[in-house]
Amino acid sequence: MPITQIVIFGASGDLTARKLIPALVGNARAGSLEGEIQVIGVSRSSRTSEAWRDELARWLPDSDLPVWRALAPHVHYIAGSVLSADFLAGLSAKLDDLAAGENPGRLFYLALKPTLFAPVVEGLSAAGMIQCPPGAEEGWRRVVVEKPFGTDLQTAMALNRVLLSHLREDQIFRIDHYLGKETVQNILAFRFQNAIFEPLWSREHVESVEISVCEEVGMEGGRGGYYDTAGALRDMVQNHVLQVLALIAMEPPASMAADAVRSEKVKVLSSLRIPSPAEVARDVVRGQYLASEARVSGYLQEQGVPDGSDTETYVAIRAGIDNWRWSGVPFFLRTGKCMHQRYTEVILNFRVPPVDLLNGPVQGAACAMRPNSLHLLIQPHEQIRLGFLVKQPGPGTMMRPAMLKFDYRDIQTEPTAPAYQRLLLDAIEGNATLFIRGDETEAAWRFADAIREGWQAPGADPIHGYHAGSMGPAAADALFRGCEGTWGRGS
Ligand code: BG6
Repeated sequence: MPITQIVIFGASGDLTARKLIPALVGNARAGSLEGEIQVIGVSRSSRTSEAWRDELARWLPDSDLPVWRALAPHVHYIAGSVLSADFLAGLSAKLDDLAAGENPGRLFYLALKPTLFAPVVEGLSAAGMIQCPPGAEEGWRRVVVEKPFGTDLQTAMALNRVLLSHLREDQIFRIDHYLGKETVQNILAFRFQNAIFEPLWSREHVESVEISVCEEVGMEGGRGGYYDTAGALRDMVQNHVLQVLALIAMEPPASMAADAVRSEKVKVLSSLRIPSPAEVARDVVRGQYLASEARVSGYLQEQGVPDGSDTETYVAIRAGIDNWRWSGVPFFLRTGKCMHQRYTEVILNFRVPPVDLLNGPVQGAACAMRPNSLHLLIQPHEQIRLGFLVKQPGPGTMMRPAMLKFDYRDIQTEPTAPAYQRLLLDAIEGNATLFIRGDETEAAWRFADAIREGWQAPGADPIHGYHAGSMGPAAADALFRGCEGTWGRGS
């Protein structure tokens, strides 16, 4: 029976208890795990394996406890510093002991502070713990790197350089949990397993695309200190929003193999128009939430946020993709904290028919009604909606909006599996399709950095306040021009 050892660095952290262990249990419950799984948690604080198992169990629903009880004997805790060569040597010996003569695959999960990613990989390499031949079925070594991957292009490149001097790209699994969401995965399936949408999926028929990732939460859980060093652009746009954009805009891949998909994504990300400071001032709106009836504290009053901080909690961008498929089509991107609703949605707005046979040409400055849009609702209501017009029954020529709707709940009663469940399984199985390649993250940083530079340039648009619980700063509406419409309003 093959053995897989999952070594979690940062075992006492939130991510381990809230996401990783539940993901493992979910996979065990679904019967997706092959062979024996051993989990080795590593962290500095001292506790016994029994104590750690008890802590982890507290985060699991009662219904998962029987599965957990079967896994728990294979869950071990080892206290020590990941930066100590002696500790890593001891850990290596312990992993061999647990393997009892077998040659297990090892997944090293870096659930650590980002500043530790590079030194830990260097340490593992020096200890001889991450070397393995390409394509090894047994004795493979992989490293999962959590976000944030760098804080700008330079730091991301430096981190890639360190990782790639000790590991092959096929051993590195850079996580973006949005790619593990069922509905995000469905973007490619929907586009490329149906024949009727793809012919419409280009500048000829699509007038604009909107990607909104709106959140209701603010700095809950005392995140203010961390968040203030990131802001919405780094925290959400550089990764999640641009990953969704890449899946929406990419060309059909040659196959679903990791490199085929990721090569297409990187082409799109590299075709994003890099805005000049003047374009940033015109095409990007940043905001920061203010106290309101919906929330007693504005961003500046949150714990850990420095006085007078100008970190953005909202950003809206009119982006462009300079390639043959999308040239001239605005991509409206938006994300924010403390907004009116939590929802992630992609909308393709199709062009208006060239002639209005029933009503004749549009008069004056009025805009023709745009009848067709496709909505991919990623969360929390997982749906696909196609909007069109129908004739209002009766003698006149009045049209009214109608909609075809598909709801995931119609095909499955269980909630979809959490993103980490799928991603953890893929990392164990060595499938990197839903993970980010080094060049993708660099292309995304190039775009995000240009926006940040624009914000620091003379003549930059100032940060706009918006009331918590609102749709964000009104200034973002002006990113739509002429008859382009406006932001979707959620459901
Ligand atoms: C994380 C960000 O990556 O994604 C958080 O750091 C954000 O700020 C979260 O709240 C959103 O994820 P989800 O899955 O809740 O949409």
